[in-house]
Amino acid sequence: MKKILITGGAGFIGSHVVRLFVNKYPNYHIFNLDALTYAGNLENIADIQNATNYTFIKGDIVDADFINDLFDKHQFDGVLHLAAESHVDRSIADPLAFVKTNVIGTMNLLNAAKKCWKDNFDGKRFYHISTDEVYGTLGETGLFTETTAYDPNSPYSASKASSDHFVRAYGETYGLPYVITNCSNNYGPNHFPEKLIPLFINNIIQKKPLPVYGDGKYTRDWLFVEDHAVAIDLVFHKGKNHETYNIGGFNEWQNINLVKLLCQQMDKKLGRSEGESEQLITYVKDRPGHDLRYAIDATKINTELGWKPSVTFEQGLEKTIDWYLANEEWLKNVTSGEYQNYYQKQYS
Ligand SMILES: NC(=O)c1ccc[n+]([C@@H]2O[C@H](COP(=O)([O-])OP(=O)(O)OC[C@H]3O[C@@H](n4cnc5c(N)ncnc54)[C@H](O)[C@@H]3O)[C@@H](O)[C@H]2O)c1
Repeated sequence: MKKILITGGAGFIGSHVVRLFVNKYPNYHIFNLDALTYAGNLENIADIQNATNYTFIKGDIVDADFINDLFDKHQFDGVLHLAAESHVDRSIADPLAFVKTNVIGTMNLLNAAKKCWKDNFDGKRFYHISTDEVYGTLGETGLFTETTAYDPNSPYSASKASSDHFVRAYGETYGLPYVITNCSNNYGPNHFPEKLIPLFINNIIQKKPLPVYGDGKYTRDWLFVEDHAVAIDLVFHKGKNHETYNIGGFNEWQNINLVKLLCQQMDKKLGRSEGESEQLITYVKDRPGHDLRYAIDATKINTELGWKPSVTFEQGLEKTIDWYLANEEWLKNVTSGEYQNYYQKQYS
């Protein structure tokens, strides 16, 4: 049985990846390592917590001794590394926290994997999950490809860029078999409501203001999280060593248009009159260093591995809204902080 370590599996994307791997690969034992920061929520994966091929481990990737002991004990065959500080606004307030987790934490995993695998890398793989934000900003036109130069503008993207470089360097210097993916903005169920789409869904439900940065013209590419998890599965198993793949939704939206679409869909679902939620839109002071536009060219993963998104944005958004409306308890627990007691209740 292969032993696979997934870091950050109690977070938004990680929880979808853990679920997919636990259910799809009964011949793998999945170890989910997560520090359960404010962003980690075991309720996200309550449905698979008793699976026989699954183990949750609470721990911090910044603790090198702990990580080395973990690799010694379990002798993992593969790593999917998603644990990170992931919110740009938080990185502006506290950049060092991002260096610790995203850079030092990644280094600790690289060192432990290299030591554990004793430079015999047959059948081993270190998969680092990264973001399109490392490429910086685009003008009105153009797309990020795998060869676009890194040009990070926020402390978050700088820390992710740094970790990407170290992963690549371990591949070039020591021969560590790695793959990296750089993905665009994800949305979907279990997204912590500090990020745009879940925050706005929550605010619309509660008829609270919808704070839109600047003039609302910022443009992002959006991908449904379950499609990202499928891409991650594919790259982990079929991607070429020492390669980078961009993952995106072929789906660019200006923030203001996205918010209007969300308002329209929510008004229908909530039986409100047309245009009611749009009145909640409030323009607020811009974020410093705000990147104007991200857009991904996902041709490589499409042509080499045959991946493409399975849902349109309208379909994915509807699924997302339906999930939040059906899981108000989850939303309530997250916004009240109650979810942080789940670990105690479940594992004490
Ligand atoms: N959300 C996106 O749109 C997006 C897009 C592209 C790439 N990514 C990348 O995907 C990964 C997952 O993103 P997400 O949105 O699911 O993040 P998230 O913030 O929802 O989850 C991060 C998880 O990592 C855990 N964690 C944080 N610090 C840790 C530490 N020191 N030790 C162990 N665990 C720790 C948290 O408890 C949480 O469960 C990140 O690496 C992020 O950079 C995210």
